[in-house]
Amino acid sequence: MKLPSLKIGNLTANIPLIQGGMSIRVSTSALAAPVASCGGVGVIGGSAIPTEELQEDIIKAKQEATDGIIAVNIMFAMKNFYNLVMASIDAGVDMIVTGAGFSRDIFKIGREHNVPIAMIVSSPSLAKLAEKLGASAVIVESKEAGGHLGTDKPLREIFPAIRDVVKNIPLIAAGGITNGYEMAEMMDKYGADGVQIASRFVLSEECDVDDNFKQAYLNAQKGDIVLTTSPVGLPGRAIANKFVKAMAEGVDMTSKKCKHFCLKKCDHHYCISDRLMSARNGDLEEGLFFSGENTYKMKSILPVAEIFRQFIEQAESVYKEGIGFSPLTNKA
Ligand SMILES: Cc1cc2nc3c(=O)[nH]c(=O)nc-3n(C[C@H](O)[C@H](O)[C@H](O)COP(=O)(O)O)c2cc1C
Repeated sequence: MKLPSLKIGNLTANIPLIQGGMSIRVSTSALAAPVASCGGVGVIGGSAIPTEELQEDIIKAKQEATDGIIAVNIMFAMKNFYNLVMASIDAGVDMIVTGAGFSRDIFKIGREHNVPIAMIVSSPSLAKLAEKLGASAVIVESKEAGGHLGTDKPLREIFPAIRDVVKNIPLIAAGGITNGYEMAEMMDKYGADGVQIASRFVLSEECDVDDNFKQAYLNAQKGDIVLTTSPVGLPGRAIANKFVKAMAEGVDMTSKKCKHFCLKKCDHHYCISDRLMSARNGDLEEGLFFSGENTYKMKSILPVAEIFRQFIEQAESVYKEGIGFSPLTNKA
């Protein structure tokens, strides 16, 4: 059966698939535009890049996308969070996704500018609060996700409790989804209105990272994908390499001089901006390669259109509609 479209505020994505935002410069317009053209939500990672660069990239993505929605992901942990939000709105972004902290003011800004806000949460209380304050969608992110984590619980454990409290806006499942069967499972069995997927898109031809980054994903075995610490103050999921192992062993990586002034609160035990950029540029030993827990299951680099084709074909082969319980699609 055909997958339903995903309505977020005044926007509609024909395919209920959001490509997770990935900073720094992992998800740029090069990835977001083809995702949107396939009918999904293409998300530019908007944290820790200059506002002018972000604006140019949003404009580029909007020009190149033939369909879908172009969004930006901005972490609330960023010092210049509101600048990045306003710059994105000025550049004409369709939607804003935010997480890594909780902004109460963002919803008012969204309302004033008619830009839907999607909030990433990992608990029923924050999900409820986001809906009450005016979120247009809630994204439930679990411990299987890549990057910073707000929970140590798996998706299938935390999702139902959040589904119970979010009544009138779309609820999206994120963390560890690698194929269309899992997408259909989250929608059919758990009542998700859509899914957010990131790691699968690192392994796309269009993802604009060094080939070494993709190779690190392809080479990763289950045991190589580990939890590490971040100066943001949250745990992060990444691929174990020389840098991650040295940190685990307590080697002093303290960044002596702060070049970026990027985070509201930074414990300086290393410079996350430098490490993420090193990964993006392919430094296999010293970079920080954020990765979802199930990356080891994916063994191919494909064009974005082929990833969509496979997800849709797999999901629609098992999607039944009526088993799940999303109030938005009036199921069960
Ligand atoms: C390389 C990488 C960078 C990420 N950067 C961000 C980010 O800047 N902001 C954010 O909210 N989430 C970030 N995430 C989380 C993703 O947007 C997404 O929710 C999550 O990875 C989904 O799980 P999956 O990768 O298993 O599909 C990142 C994930 C990865 C793999």
